[in-house]
Amino acid sequence: MKAANQKTALVTGASSGFGLLISIELAKGGYDVAAGMRRPEAAGELLQQAAKFGVAERIRVIELDICSEEQVQAAARSVEQELGRLDVLVNNAGIAVGGFVEEVPLSEWRRQLETNVIGTVSVTQSMLPLMRRTGKSKMILISSISGVVGFPGYGPYAASKFAVEGLGESLAMELMPLGIDVVLVQPGAYGTPIWRKSFGELKVREGSPYSGMLKRVLAYSERTAKKSGDPLEVARLVARIAGMKHPSFRYRLPRSTRLTGRIKAWLPDRFFQRLIVRLLGRE
Ligand SMILES: NC(=O)c1ccc[n+]([C@@H]2O[C@H](COP(=O)([O-])OP(=O)(O)OC[C@H]3O[C@@H](n4cnc5c(N)ncnc54)[C@H](OP(=O)(O)O)[C@@H]3O)[C@@H](O)[C@H]2O)c1
Repeated sequence: MKAANQKTALVTGASSGFGLLISIELAKGGYDVAAGMRRPEAAGELLQQAAKFGVAERIRVIELDICSEEQVQAAARSVEQELGRLDVLVNNAGIAVGGFVEEVPLSEWRRQLETNVIGTVSVTQSMLPLMRRTGKSKMILISSISGVVGFPGYGPYAASKFAVEGLGESLAMELMPLGIDVVLVQPGAYGTPIWRKSFGELKVREGSPYSGMLKRVLAYSERTAKKSGDPLEVARLVARIAGMKHPSFRYRLPRSTRLTGRIKAWLPDRFFQRLIVRLLGRE
């Protein structure tokens, strides 16, 4: 039988990328992990990797499309019944819609904000009652450097991650008196499938005034993706945060991304914007 003090975690978007690796790192750290995915049939890779590390029995896959209120509520019931407590919630699931603000169809804007913002709020609302009953617990929000800097061609994604940052700030103070730590993790570009799923198909309209900039944005994104670090760094950081008594509020990685954030904070806004546009000009 499961010990009453056995630590538990829920990770959303666990089918690939950070979510998959975070689930494994948490299981390796001794957590019983509910791995939420909207396509449970995609659980093979996670379960294979978990088996390789001898932690498959600590992972249970649950069907969780964060945009389906029904599935979110069902997931909350299943975590409560099967795990009995929730020590760590990792709000990781997300998509990246690329494109220029003027040209991205409103339906794509809605899909972006519905997933990264409303979906995250929905999971948060449904899991908080169990987290409050658990007592000292943690909510880790996977934000992005795009929640700090709105790069051209990344408008919808940046808007969603700036919203996640605001959500995190309010939540942190709302939950502080209840013993729940809210933590924002802001990764730079890492080579996970998210870029192939989104920016790979980025196009501009026929005769678009943005076609020159698109080429430069894509070239820049490709360069960054090639130089990007190992996504395991992010997963290990999240697992470390899960175990911390007094985590900081924000973590930014890798080092180059911390530098970008600092440069933005130091420079006057217009200067910083000109710098980015000029850097994008270097193909
Ligand atoms: N990679 C980076 O460079 C980077 C940088 C900063 C922040 N991030 C953030 O990191 C998080 C994870 O992304 P990733 O890079 O690991 O990419 P990823 O491999 O594409 O992972 C995204 C995960 O979210 C899931 N997802 C998407 N929509 C969902 C929905 N409606 N309900 C449930 N799950 C859904 C995806 O499921 P499917 O497999 O079904 O699509 C996938 O499991 C995202 O929030 C992303 O914005 C990534």
